[in-house]
Amino acid sequence: MGRPRKYDPDKLSTSVLEPRIDPATNKMDVGGFLIPVTNTITALLWGFANHPTNKAREFYFWRIADLLWNRDDLPEHMFLKHPWAEQIIRECIDNKYLAIGGAASSGKSHTLAGYGIVTWLARPRDTLVLMTSTTLREARKRIWGSVISLLSVIDGAPINIRDSIGSANYIDENGQTFDRAGLSLIAAEKSRTREAIGKFIGLKQKHVLLIGDELGELSEAIQQAALANLSKNPKFEFKGLSNPASRFDSFGIWSTPKEGWESITPDVDDEWTTKWGGKYIRLDGERSPNVAAGYTE
Ligand SMILES: Nc1ncnc2c1ncn2[C@@H]1O[C@H](COP(=O)(O)OP(=O)(O)OP(=O)(O)O)[C@@H](O)[C@H]1O
Ligand SMILES: [Mg+2]
Repeated sequence: MGRPRKYDPDKLSTSVLEPRIDPATNKMDVGGFLIPVTNTITALLWGFANHPTNKAREFYFWRIADLLWNRDDLPEHMFLKHPWAEQIIRECIDNKYLAIGGAASSGKSHTLAGYGIVTWLARPRDTLVLMTSTTLREARKRIWGSVISLLSVIDGAPINIRDSIGSANYIDENGQTFDRAGLSLIAAEKSRTREAIGKFIGLKQKHVLLIGDELGELSEAIQQAALANLSKNPKFEFKGLSNPASRFDSFGIWSTPKEGWESITPDVDDEWTTKWGGKYIRLDGERSPNVAAGYTE
């Protein structure tokens, strides 16, 4: 942890948050915390991983996303700050357990792919990001496709990408690959539930982020196994995404309101607390037509 300097959570303007060298101490000031001098991206990643204020972490996330994916030397900007993307990132940072229900093509998978990569990059040796999808083949069109394209433009990332088996693992300075650090896809269609669950049992890492893409299409046992096993890790986050189809499928169960379905009005309410102590948010194309349009600038 950096040494707090003049950190005031109520005064976090962009100029305070932006990393800079402090001439008085010759250290780097990241949002009011002093760390050894480093380059901008490393300082921003430090801020994303460590800053105590969620608003600040959100700022660092977008600064990192812009540096990695919205550079002008790329043929196109790959991670636009769309209102839904902003909302998803804010809620991901605020809620360790999150259910995101949304219109088709609302950017759920792509945004979580970016959140997963930044979360991993912030502590690459100590973070494992697990992503479910139905099959490896399907995943290439979904979240894993976004992961690979977003990773492909990051120069010098310490990663060994094995696309054929759906893994992108941390590789240290000696060239050693760490199976328990990086990003890993779990094909979890219903017929492969047992195999998928087997990957959760006894899995240990300091920070585990589970992104349940297409959660509604997977077995409910996946979610139970995740909560029973993965939540034992020191830091565990679980974000489940789907186009809502039923209250009884895995995504419906993950979205269940704290006081039961009778306590909310599905046609009116866009968010609520879930019975798992997390939050449900809904991105609805029909009810938010202004933000439903595509992703071109
Ligand atoms: N923030 C963004 N910046 C740039 N492109 C984006 C962004 N979000 C999404 N896209 C593009 O839009 C496409 C559709 O988004 P995505 O697949 O994430 O939506 P989805 O809500 O997961 O859809 P589905 O309902 O099919 O699962 C992505 O493949 C990606 O290319
Ligand atoms: Mg998707």
